[in-house]
Amino acid sequence: RATLSNELSGSEVIVVSNREPYIHNRTEDGIVLQIPASGLVAALEPVTRACGGTWIAHGSGTADRESVDAYDRVAVPPDNPSYTLRRVWLTEEEQEGYYYGAANEGLWPLCHIAFVRPAFRESDWRMYRAVNEKFAEAVVAEAKREDPVILVQDYHFALLPRMIRERLPRATIVTFWHIPWPNAETFGICPWREEIVDGLLGSSILGFHTQAHCNHFLDAVDTYVESRIDRERDSVTYGGEETLIRPYPISIEWPPTALAGQKSIEECRHAVRQRLGLPPDMRIGVGIERFDYTKGIIDRMQVIDNLFTEYPEWKGRFVFVQVAAPTRSKLASYRQLQEEAEALARDINTRHGTEGYEPIKLLIRHHGPDQVFELFRAADICVVSSLHDGMNLVAKEFVAARDDESGVLILSAFAGASRELSEALIVNPYNAHAMGEAFNRALTMPPEEQRERMRLMRDQVRERNVYRWAGQMLLAASRLRKRLRIRRLI
Ligand code: G6P
Repeated sequence: RATLSNELSGSEVIVVSNREPYIHNRTEDGIVLQIPASGLVAALEPVTRACGGTWIAHGSGTADRESVDAYDRVAVPPDNPSYTLRRVWLTEEEQEGYYYGAANEGLWPLCHIAFVRPAFRESDWRMYRAVNEKFAEAVVAEAKREDPVILVQDYHFALLPRMIRERLPRATIVTFWHIPWPNAETFGICPWREEIVDGLLGSSILGFHTQAHCNHFLDAVDTYVESRIDRERDSVTYGGEETLIRPYPISIEWPPTALAGQKSIEECRHAVRQRLGLPPDMRIGVGIERFDYTKGIIDRMQVIDNLFTEYPEWKGRFVFVQVAAPTRSKLASYRQLQEEAEALARDINTRHGTEGYEPIKLLIRHHGPDQVFELFRAADICVVSSLHDGMNLVAKEFVAARDDESGVLILSAFAGASRELSEALIVNPYNAHAMGEAFNRALTMPPEEQRERMRLMRDQVRERNVYRWAGQMLLAASRLRKRLRIRRLI
């Protein structure tokens, strides 16, 4: 954290993302502040708190619109402000085209191998372009110097780096792509592929979670635009400007803020079981995510269904708590998933449940970080079985929550996190049989083995925390800036 502030002293930092770190919602009890369910926010918020500066994002709460002036520019975090949240307001039409359409029906399924066909509508893309322009204007309006450090986040803003570069040629633009990058052939079906690559190459540094995603991006550059690629430096020279392509595996803050106020593991175990109406010795598995088709929620439930047939001893002794926060519900693919999951949970509970025993508890509502951490601490196992995931920070949060060094993590081989957390039980979420075995193994793992695995994983997350993620990127940015300054002097 200290290195971050040192490296950045005297420079201006501007973060740009679609999702805002704090949402002001109007409820019956007045204005309530919500922290959204977003890996991006979980990672960037502590970093921005440490750096200070301005975070520009789409104003998404229900309270904001009513008195736009009051919520236009807010000092956050509310209890101890250290940076400015600057909201950009989008019309219904802009949200439809840019957020739901181009970003979430186009780029999201394109980048995740999720078997949901991406939809590419020209009208959505026009809106996407227009909203990127709108954010570029906001960056220029917020920038107090001609050479700020700008941190552009994610697939909502593929065109923004180029637009900023045109307006602020001396800015250091660090772009991070929070989701996977598909191989060149898959990417090639996107009608806007050249424009996307051109947009991203406006960045000084472009980061992905893994080296594989960097390689895929370099292949896309190689295939679709005229440029010079230096495979040794992992850089692209395009239109006379160089962009460095680097893997920066994202992480969480250590120790997490949400851990500070937590009760002991014993108390959490007790409190959660009592709240869910479960006996004290009930074994609990948890899955916590947004209700997204990339997370493998249906496949996971089917595994639990089979578990009770293949390992009937768990009937009555094991409950799976699936927290699924509603997300992007305007889109048919998300609504269908929710309906399917609800029907499947009912069906499993009817077939395997008994009086007073429901094997699946499906909690379809947003849980704040404190509730999430309490659940992690109460659980015996945590299951992250995404079909495809850039990194997945839930896996790292579970590990961070277990300061008692117990609990077992079942983790998809197709989540970036599996590269770092190799002591988890790594599974192929498409292999139902092997997943069932992993559940049984997790439920029967001796405490000593749990401890050994958990210790190694905790060491990893402690060391490779989010400050290191941001630190490495910003260090690279500041070196680059120094080098460019010297070159300008010559
Ligand atoms: C993923 C994306 C983030 C996004 C988050 C929540 O982690 O990479 O950009 O913020 O999902 O999705 P939402 O659409 O609600 O912002």
